[in-house]
Amino acid sequence: MPTPSVAALPIRRLTPRDLTDCADLSEDRGWPREEHKWRLLLTAGKGYGIDDPGGGLVAACVITEYGPGERPDLSAIGMVLVAERHARQGVGRRLMRHIVSATGTTPLTLYATPNGRPLYEELGFKTTARSEMLTGPFAPGGPEPRVATRAAAAEDLGSILRLDAEVFGTDRTPLIARLPAFSDQLRVAVDGDRIVGYAAAWPNMDTQVVGPLIARDTETAKSLITSLAGRTDRPLRTDIDIRHEELLAWAKERGLASVAMNSVMTYGIAELPGDWTRRFAPLTVAAG
Ligand SMILES: CC(C)(COP(=O)(O)OP(=O)(O)OC[C@H]1O[C@@H](n2cnc3c(N)ncnc32)[C@H](O)[C@@H]1OP(=O)(O)O)[C@@H](O)C(=O)NCCC(=O)NCCS
Repeated sequence: MPTPSVAALPIRRLTPRDLTDCADLSEDRGWPREEHKWRLLLTAGKGYGIDDPGGGLVAACVITEYGPGERPDLSAIGMVLVAERHARQGVGRRLMRHIVSATGTTPLTLYATPNGRPLYEELGFKTTARSEMLTGPFAPGGPEPRVATRAAAAEDLGSILRLDAEVFGTDRTPLIARLPAFSDQLRVAVDGDRIVGYAAAWPNMDTQVVGPLIARDTETAKSLITSLAGRTDRPLRTDIDIRHEELLAWAKERGLASVAMNSVMTYGIAELPGDWTRRFAPLTVAAG
């Protein structure tokens, strides 16, 4: 039987059973396997992929929907990957067109790598912000951050969800409610009885990823990062919106190094909803 052309292969929904093939695809493109993250995204979001008749996946991506279940008001696209052996044959374009049409009128957002940006621009996505990926061991020092933090308790979840929805601009309960199980640490910043910020740190390969990082102001964000860093031996990784210049400068003074820049792009909406001034880092660039 002749091998079907890659352009004719069907696009199907992925499930958590596709985890290993997804991680293999990441590895194929020189990305880390990130199985913990793939598992979250394939469970809380909707995966799409193309099977390779020779085994494994030709391509994959994941959509995470926010807002009311039956009528999401924002969808985040992430983990857009095409196997190296099938690169530059129009597969990425076909997969993305499928997603744009499958999501109908729901506004879309994604973090684009320099590799992915030309394709998204061609499809009509516009850059609305940028983020800088930092990584490295966190070196304590400098003035002690002034905002009190503590481990989140089960009864904080309601307040965390309310604060998150206000700052993110739409409800993302399916993702945030998984944080206590998904992350190694979930901490809140408090002003008296009030929760004024929260942050998670979750395991990814040899690092702890700090995100989401939601905080009333930069001082609160610094306090949360410092408190998370003080409770792990691993290097940190985070993706900070570059408008938060003060936090970026401070993180670099504390030993984190810039490793990549991504463009935050949108489709069907001029700006992301919510309040960027209190949104310092996404949970992951793959889900916003
Ligand atoms: C980005 C990626 C998904 C594109 O998939 P693809 O199937 O190779 O892309 P297509 O063949 O559909 O190309 C669509 C357009 O994207 C652009 N493009 C794709 N790969 C490119 C590259 N390496 N450099 C510059 N532009 C590129 C081109 O404009 C291309 O159109 P053209 O071939 O007609 O010039 C793929 O290169 C990939 O998996 N990269 C690694 C992971 C990654 O960075 N993903 C993006 C995350 S945001």
